[in-house]
Amino acid sequence: MPLKIENLSHTYMKGTPFEKKALDNINLEICDGEFVGIIGHTGCGKSTLVQHFNGLLKPEEGNIYIDGLLMNHSNIKEMRKKVGLVFQYPEYQLFESTVYKDIAFGIKNEKLSPEEEYNRVSDALNKTGLTEDILDKSIYDLSGGQKRRVAIAGIIVMNPQILVLDEPAAGLDPAGREEILGFAKKLRDENGITVILVSHSMEDIAKLADKVIVMNNGKIEMIGKPKEVFRNGKRLNEIGLSVPQMSSVFNKIGEILPDLNINTDVFTVEEATEEILRLLNKGETV
Ligand SMILES: Nc1ncnc2c1ncn2[C@@H]1O[C@H](COP(=O)(O)OP(=O)(O)OP(=O)(O)O)[C@@H](O)[C@H]1O
Ligand SMILES: [Mg+2]
Repeated sequence: MPLKIENLSHTYMKGTPFEKKALDNINLEICDGEFVGIIGHTGCGKSTLVQHFNGLLKPEEGNIYIDGLLMNHSNIKEMRKKVGLVFQYPEYQLFESTVYKDIAFGIKNEKLSPEEEYNRVSDALNKTGLTEDILDKSIYDLSGGQKRRVAIAGIIVMNPQILVLDEPAAGLDPAGREEILGFAKKLRDENGITVILVSHSMEDIAKLADKVIVMNNGKIEMIGKPKEVFRNGKRLNEIGLSVPQMSSVFNKIGEILPDLNINTDVFTVEEATEEILRLLNKGETV
């Protein structure tokens, strides 16, 4: 079990008039190689939760275990290496003069030979779908999507076992979104990295996640496979979320045309296409 969270609570500005309980008794387990989606309305505590995963925020109450080991002040440095956290808008944290230096920053203290260092940097860059020709460029010469990917490469270069991406596709155009989410999936599929993706998009979560965590007001509202979670459309609406668009359409068709026996467990455009083809084929053979 690479990550286990036990009775975790967090309050910002405790003891002041601005006190805010951002996390309230969170319990969850994330398995090796899982692709986990975290979703919930603005301010429900998603970023606060994921910042505990690598010890950036210290638990006020509760425990965090990585690979079965309790995180504490003496092992936090080691633990932090296992969990790579990419913030919302990570490109704002790029500060070195070249792409190469920015990506290499996180492995400076590993005392690698120049060749080893170069290989690690270019490997991380390639994993984000970029090529070595940009390594000598200034970050100011890159597009928004490229900057974002360089920032993510700066985390991947440290070879984390778990990669946490907080809204990695926010503010990008549809092509940029697809690219970022595509390589996150590839990292999991080809490199076995456990990926935790915070997203506002039900569509993205439906397409990618094995497990969905729905948060509401600092608590976990639901955990389950996308199919299990998206069946609770009514409750999701109550807490300010919606089911993926395809689910709404297929649920509606199911209501209007019950005799069609349409499969309403459809969440993505691909699944919708398959289901429509299945119904059309059924029509032909009857
Ligand atoms: N540094 C802080 N100081 C005080 N309150 C904070 C701080 N950071 C977050 N909060 C509050 O804690 C709650 C949870 O915030 P958090 O950023 O974790 O939510 P979120 O689910 O990530 O929201 P979003 O979807 O907008 O990114 C919110 O009410 C927020 O205003
Ligand atoms: Mg957030």
